[in-house]
Amino acid sequence: MMATAKKLEKFAVFGHPIGHSKSPVIHQQFAKQFGLDITYEAIDVAENEFEQTVREFGKNGGNGLNITVPYKLEAWQLADVRSERAELAGAVNTLKFSTGNNGELKIFGDNTDGVGLVTDIQGNYQVKIKNKKVLVLGAGGAVRGILAPLLDCQPQLLLLANRTVSKAEVLVEIFGHKGTIKATGFDNLADQQFDLIINGTAASLKGEVPPLPGTIFAKNALAYDLMYSAEPTPFMEWAKNQGAAKQTDGLGMLVEQAAESFYIWNGLRPDTGPVIKLLR
Ligand code: ATR
Repeated sequence: MMATAKKLEKFAVFGHPIGHSKSPVIHQQFAKQFGLDITYEAIDVAENEFEQTVREFGKNGGNGLNITVPYKLEAWQLADVRSERAELAGAVNTLKFSTGNNGELKIFGDNTDGVGLVTDIQGNYQVKIKNKKVLVLGAGGAVRGILAPLLDCQPQLLLLANRTVSKAEVLVEIFGHKGTIKATGFDNLADQQFDLIINGTAASLKGEVPPLPGTIFAKNALAYDLMYSAEPTPFMEWAKNQGAAKQTDGLGMLVEQAAESFYIWNGLRPDTGPVIKLLR
C-alpha cells in the first residue's frame, strides 16, 4: 500500500485591521504540543469581502477560522449552525468547516470568548465564580460575548454597569433566564463590594477608566480588563491604586479562547500555561 502523506490542516484569523495578531503564534505553539502540522495565517479582509473570503477559504480546504473585529456579527449571520453560547452572544469568533452529503460547504459557528475568560479566571487565577458578586462594566459586543458563560458559573449576583443604562437593561432582558443579572449606571455603586470586577468598556482604548467609586473592591477582589497590552492598562493601574488585591489584562483570556477554538477544530486540549508565559 502507498503511504499517504499527513494532511496539512489549514486555519486563519480574519479581521480588519488584523494588526499584530498573536493568534498565529498561539496556534502554532498548540499544534507543536501535539506534533500537528498546521498553517495559521492572520488575514486582513477588506470590508464587503468577508463572506466571499470565508466561503473561498472553506472551499479551498480550510478547516477553521477565528474571526475578530469587526466581523464577529457577520460570522454569526453566515454560520449554518451555531452553538447555544454563540446564539446568545450574538457573535461568532470560531468557524469550523465541513462538507455536507451533497458536497456542499457547511459552516458551524461558535463563540469561545466567554469560556476563555471563565477558564482564565477560575483555572489560572483560581478565583471561583460560584456564589460570588461580579461586577461587569460595559454593555457592548465584548460584554455580550461573555455573559452566558459567566452566568453558567452561578454567581450570587452579576451586576452590569454601563454609562448608557438602557443598553445594560437590554442585555438583562436577553440573559435574565440564565441567572441573577441586574443593570445599573456607574453612579449607583458607592455602597457595594464585588469579588470580581470585569472591565468590558472601550474606555481603556482611549486611556480612560469608567467613573467608578474606589470602594467597589471586596477583600481579595480580582480586577480583570478584557483588553490586553504590554503595559498595565489604565483600569488595572486604577484598580491597584484603589487597593484591589489582584489585577490582570485579557492576555490569558486570549490564549484560553484560542485553546477552546483549537479543541473545537482538532478535538485536543492544549496546555495553555506555557503559551501564556511565552507571550508575557
Ligand atoms: P465593543 O465591541 O468593544 O464592546 P462597543 O459595542 O462599541 O464596543 O461597546 C463599547 C462599550 O464601552 C459600551 O458599553 C460603552 O458605553 P455606552 O454604551 O454608554 O456607549 C463603553 N464605553 C466606551 N467608552 C467609555 C468611557 N470612556 N467610559 C465608560 N464607558 C465607555
